[in-house]
Amino acid sequence: MENFSNDVFTILNYQGSKKNLLSFIHKNTVEVIDDKKAVFDIFAGSCAVGYSFKRYYKIFANDSEMYSSVIAKALLQYNDKSLWEIYKNRFNESYQRNYNDLFKLFGKYAVEENELIRAEDIQKVKSFYDNYPTVWNGYLRLYNDTIRTAKDLKKRKNQIPYMLFTTYYGNTYFGVNQSIEIDSIRYAIEEIEDNALKNVLLTSLFFAMKECTFSKDGHMAQPLSIENNQTKLFNVRKKSIFDYFQRKLFDFQSPDFVLSSNDNIVFNKPISEVYNIDSLKQEVGFIYADPPYTDMQYSRYYHLLNTAALYDYDSISLYRGKVSKGLYRENRFQSPLSQRSNALDQTSMLFDYCKGNRINLALSFAYPRNTKEQATNRYTMDIEDIIGTAEIKFGRKNVKVLTEEYEHSNNRNKDTKKVLEYLIVCKY
Ligand SMILES: C[S@@+](CC[C@H](N)C(=O)[O-])C[C@H]1O[C@@H](n2cnc3c(N)ncnc32)[C@H](O)[C@@H]1O
Repeated sequence: MENFSNDVFTILNYQGSKKNLLSFIHKNTVEVIDDKKAVFDIFAGSCAVGYSFKRYYKIFANDSEMYSSVIAKALLQYNDKSLWEIYKNRFNESYQRNYNDLFKLFGKYAVEENELIRAEDIQKVKSFYDNYPTVWNGYLRLYNDTIRTAKDLKKRKNQIPYMLFTTYYGNTYFGVNQSIEIDSIRYAIEEIEDNALKNVLLTSLFFAMKECTFSKDGHMAQPLSIENNQTKLFNVRKKSIFDYFQRKLFDFQSPDFVLSSNDNIVFNKPISEVYNIDSLKQEVGFIYADPPYTDMQYSRYYHLLNTAALYDYDSISLYRGKVSKGLYRENRFQSPLSQRSNALDQTSMLFDYCKGNRINLALSFAYPRNTKEQATNRYTMDIEDIIGTAEIKFGRKNVKVLTEEYEHSNNRNKDTKKVLEYLIVCKY
């Protein structure tokens, strides 16, 4: 057990992912993990840490973001690789059916887009996308003008082909052809009855969306401007969503994908609601907690993944009466852990929960290496306050602080942020 094999299965380019820090986490937590109990990845994100423990323990995972729980279920609960063979033909038939139906409605745009992207004429491409009909720009008119808005689509969604991405995002984050592929994959996923496989397919779709999105670093906070990012536009628009989807699906089928006979459990709750779940108190012996460390809200960066999973033709969120550039869903989750005024209280509650229920804890937090020269104002907590609070709650001798130098990619500037990765290990 001391020689953990670092099982890594990448889906997203996830902010704060610990996939490159697994050895650091494993070697410093092994002595506080009770072999007979479960491990709980309580802010699972891309589930890099939960998955890396899958080979050895029963795993619980949680995250307030829905897309994260889909990924965690795929990584932790898909334990029968024969399922895909059983459903493959039905999936492909459903995909083709929706694709053909959408092509009847949007085929002329799809054909024109292909020609323009191949010719790489930026002015024509820009004008094409400016005039492409979406729910945002009022040009959409389908079925004798009976469908023009998101509300119309929502009302009629059971009578029409799956077309959310084609009508919302076919000229921004994705192209027309890519959106038709996303919608058709999503339709075919809905036809699958097995939940574990369904989550694998959704997760493979998330991967394909990340690979093909016209936005920065594979995040989906907002689409890029066409004029300023021409090379990137032509590169990503030549990619096929279906190809990338299939690639990730094959990875799930590969011998490297870790299987487990444990009944791993995944929640999708804000952390404050996790404390009421009784089974956790008996079963969990160790919590790994990797909360957000800056004031960026995850629901902004990955909103399209929630939309793909929920597929609910959500209304447009307005900012000062206008559609925002990011084209967000309404009612995104705003985490108190991403707010300076609340983060330390929330963390303190987690310490109380662990101490009160005899659960060992390791908490990760990244903080600038040089606090004199690097800004700390976007960080939700001061590292000294976290350590101080842990020492008060668990007693000084029961808290161990470990660090590792690390470089995070920075979205604002192209360069990296040099941070110290802290691991605060607390024994009850
Ligand atoms: C730093 S990331 C975790 C990264 C993860 N360890 C990985 O390797 O991918 C923090 C996660 O906390 C989640 N989160 C933020 N606020 C939360 C809350 N109040 N309750 C539960 N999860 C929350 C975010 O959605 C995000 O996925």
